[in-house]
Amino acid sequence: MKIGNISLAPGAALAPMAGFTDAAQRRLAANFGANFTISEMVSAKALTLGDKKSPKLIWNGENCAPYGVQLFGAEPETMAEAAKLIAHHSFDFYDINMGCPAPKIVGSGAGSALMKNPVLAGTIAKAVVDASGNRPVTVKMRIGWDSSQITAVELAKRCEDAGVALLTVHGRTREEMYRPGIHTDIIAEVKAAVNIPVLANGDIETAEDAKRLLEQTGCDGVMVGRGALGAPWLFSQIKAMLEGNEIPSAPDIPQRMELLRRQIMDMVEEKGEYVALSQARSSAVYYMRGLHHAPALRRACCSLKTLADVDKLIEQVLEENPT
Ligand SMILES: Cc1cc2nc3c(=O)[nH]c(=O)nc-3n(C[C@H](O)[C@H](O)[C@H](O)COP(=O)(O)O)c2cc1C
Repeated sequence: MKIGNISLAPGAALAPMAGFTDAAQRRLAANFGANFTISEMVSAKALTLGDKKSPKLIWNGENCAPYGVQLFGAEPETMAEAAKLIAHHSFDFYDINMGCPAPKIVGSGAGSALMKNPVLAGTIAKAVVDASGNRPVTVKMRIGWDSSQITAVELAKRCEDAGVALLTVHGRTREEMYRPGIHTDIIAEVKAAVNIPVLANGDIETAEDAKRLLEQTGCDGVMVGRGALGAPWLFSQIKAMLEGNEIPSAPDIPQRMELLRRQIMDMVEEKGEYVALSQARSSAVYYMRGLHHAPALRRACCSLKTLADVDKLIEQVLEENPT
C-alpha cells in the first residue's frame, strides 16, 4: 500500500489523538511496527495567526515510520496558507481532520462539521493538495454527521477527485461520538466507491479485531487509536497477523512498566519534566489496564509530577502485581 509516492510496510497506522500522540507516543508505536503515524491535530487558523505552541505539535524527532501532520480548519484559504507555513518542517505527508466531534471544533465548522458539507470538504482538500508541494495529502473522516446525514461516500469521492492519496474512515457519525459499535457496512461502501487506499478505524483492541474489520470492510488497512494506548505492542501483533506470522504475546508487567518509563523519559527529553509529567498522566493511566488494584494505581498516575513519582508508581505496580 502507498500514500502517494510513500510505500507503507504491512502494519496498522497509529491514529492521531490530541493530548496523546506526541513524538514519544509516535516513536513508540513506530518501533513496534506502526506503518505510519500522524501528529495531534493542529489548528490551521492558529498557525496563520503565528501561535507559538502549534509548531511544537509538529516536531517529530527520530521516527522510523512515515509521519503526517494533521491540520484542522473550515476555510480553504486558511488551510492552504497553513500547509505552506509548515512546509519547512520535517514530515512526509499532510492529513486533514474531518472527524473531530469536539463542540469547540465543530462549532467553528471544522472537524466532523465538514461531514455536513461535502462540497466544502472537497474544496478544502483541493486547497491543501494544491498547497502541498510534493507531499501527499490524506483525509481522516467519520461516516457522517448523524443518522440522517450519512455522507461518507460522497465526501470520499470528492476528496479523491481533489487529489487526496488515502482516506481513513472512523465508522461512527459525529452524533455517536465514541459510543461502542461502528458501522462497518458504511466503511465498506466507501472502500468500494473509490480507487485510492482506504483504512478502517474504530474499536480495534486486538489483532483479531483488526483481521475481522479488514474482512468486514474489504479495506486496505486499519488505523488504531485507543487500543494502542498503554499497549504499543498491539502494532507488532497486527503486523504479525498481516504477515501470516505467529502473533507475539503481550509483554509481561515489568516489561510494560519499562515501556511506560521509556515513553515518559522520551517526553521529558523533549518537553522538560514539568510539562512532560503533566501530559504523561493520561498516557500512564492506560498502562494500568487489567492490573490488580488498578483504581488506586490510576489515582497515582493522576498525581505524577516528577520522574521520582514515576519510579514510585512503577514500584507500586510491581509490588501489587507480582509475576
Ligand atoms: C483522546 C482522543 C483524541 C483524539 N484526537 C484526534 C485528533 O486529534 N484527530 C483525529 O483525526 N482524531 C482524533 N481522535 C479520534 C481517533 O483518531 C480515532 O478515530 C478514534 O479514537 C476511533 O479509533 P479507536 O477506536 O481505535 O480509538 C481522538 C480520539 C481520542 C480518544
